[in-house]
Amino acid sequence: MDNFIFANPTKIVFGKDMELEVGKLIKEYGGTNVLIHYGGGSAVKSGLIDRVKESLDLNFIKHIELGGVKPNPRASLVYEGIKLCKENKIDFILAVGGGSTIDSAKAIGMGVCYDGDFWDIYSGHYEPVKTLKVATVLTIAAAGSESSGSSVITNEEFGLKRGFTSDLIRPVFSILNPQLTTTLPLYQTACGATDIIAHVFERYFTNTKEVETSDRLCEAVILAMINNMPKVMKDPTNYEYRANLMWAGTIAHNDLIGMGRSQDWNSHGLEHELSALYDVAHGAGLAVVMPHWMKYTIDHDPIRFQQMATRIFGVKKTSDPKADGLKGIKKFQEFLVSIGMPLTFKEIGAKKKDIPYMVKTLGVSGKVRDGFMKLNEQDCTNIYTLCLKK
Ligand code: NZQ
Ligand code: ZN
Repeated sequence: MDNFIFANPTKIVFGKDMELEVGKLIKEYGGTNVLIHYGGGSAVKSGLIDRVKESLDLNFIKHIELGGVKPNPRASLVYEGIKLCKENKIDFILAVGGGSTIDSAKAIGMGVCYDGDFWDIYSGHYEPVKTLKVATVLTIAAAGSESSGSSVITNEEFGLKRGFTSDLIRPVFSILNPQLTTTLPLYQTACGATDIIAHVFERYFTNTKEVETSDRLCEAVILAMINNMPKVMKDPTNYEYRANLMWAGTIAHNDLIGMGRSQDWNSHGLEHELSALYDVAHGAGLAVVMPHWMKYTIDHDPIRFQQMATRIFGVKKTSDPKADGLKGIKKFQEFLVSIGMPLTFKEIGAKKKDIPYMVKTLGVSGKVRDGFMKLNEQDCTNIYTLCLKK
C-alpha cells in the first residue's frame, strides 16, 4: 500500500427532511448573503427551493438565486454567476441539485475570488488559492461532487469539457435526503448508478499490490449498487433503496476507498470528450466507454479482472484468468443493459468519423495518459473504435 493522507472535511447531513436544517447550517459556517444555485427546474417543481428559502429566512440569511444549470454545466452560466455574486457581495453559495449544479457552484466560488478569467483554472493556467464557501443540497445519487474536490465544466465556446481538482473546493457541508431523489426519472437514476460504479472501478483498477482492505471496500460498494438498482427500478419511491444508492454515491467519490493505491481515470477522460461533443449524460457515456476500456486493458493484469469477475459478478474461478475476466466484463455489460444503459456509440449518437477529433481534444498526441495501463494516441483511438460494437 502506498503512503497517503486522508482528510475529507465535508460534513454529511443525511436523512429524511434534513434540508430543513440548511439555514442553521449555513449560519454555523458563517454565511450571511447566499446565492442559491440550481438546475433546470426539478428543484423548483418539487418545492425544494421554497423549503430552502424558508429555512434561510427563518435564520435571517439574505439570499438571491440563479437557476438554469444544464447537465454538463456551461461556462457561460458560471460567468453570469460570478458577476451576480460580485454585484451582490455574496459570501456563500448553496448548490441545490446534482453534480452539474454543484460543479457550477464550485466554479463560481473560485471565479469570484479571482480577478482573471475563471477558465484559466480549468485550462491549467491558474491554481486558485481562495474560494467562496460552497454547500449542497443533493438531489441525485451520481457524481459524488457533494464531497469531492472536483468540478467539471463545459466551455461551449471552445467545445471542451475540463475538470479541476483541489481540496479547496470540497463543499463545507452536504445535505443528503434520499426522499429528494425519488422524483428522479429511472434513466437519470441509472446514469447516476453507472457513474457511481465507474468511480469505484477507476480506483479498483490499480497497479498497487496488497490493497485488500480498499479492494474489498470497492467490491462492497459495487455489490450494493448491483443489488439496489433493480429494487429501485421496481419501487422508485422506496426510501431505503434510494438511501443505499445515495450513500454509495458519496462513498464512491469521497476518496476513502481509493487511498494508498494508484488509480486509473482514463474511462472518465475518454468519456468527457463524448459529453463535450454530443452533450450525452456522463453516466451513459461511461456505460459505453468503460467496458470497452476493460476489454482493451485486460491483458495488462488478467488476474485483477478475474478478481473483479469472481468477487463482484459471481463468475466461477478457473485456471484461465483472462477468460474469467472477459466473462465478468460481459456480466457488467448485461447489468448495464438491464438498467437501460447504452453500450455503443450508435446508441448515444456518437460517430466513427469524430474519433480523430476526440483523440485530438483529449490532448494525448505525442504523450501518454497515465493510469492502470498507460494509453497513447493509438490506444485511445482503439478504445473509441471498440465502442462502435457491443
Ligand atoms: O436540472 P434539473 O431540472 O434539476 O434536472 C436534472 C438534470 O436534468 C435532473 N435531476 C436532478 N435531480 C433530480 C432531477 N430530476 C428530477 N428529480 C430530481 N431529484 O437530473 C439531470 C442530471 O443532473 P446532473 O446534475 O447533470 O447529474 P449528475 O449528478 O450526474 O452530474 C453530472 C455532471 O457531474 C460531472 C459530470 O461530468 C457531469 O457534468 N462530474 C462531476 C464530478 C465531480 N465534481 O466530482 C465527478 C464525476 O465523475 C463527473 O465527471
Ligand atoms: Zn463520473
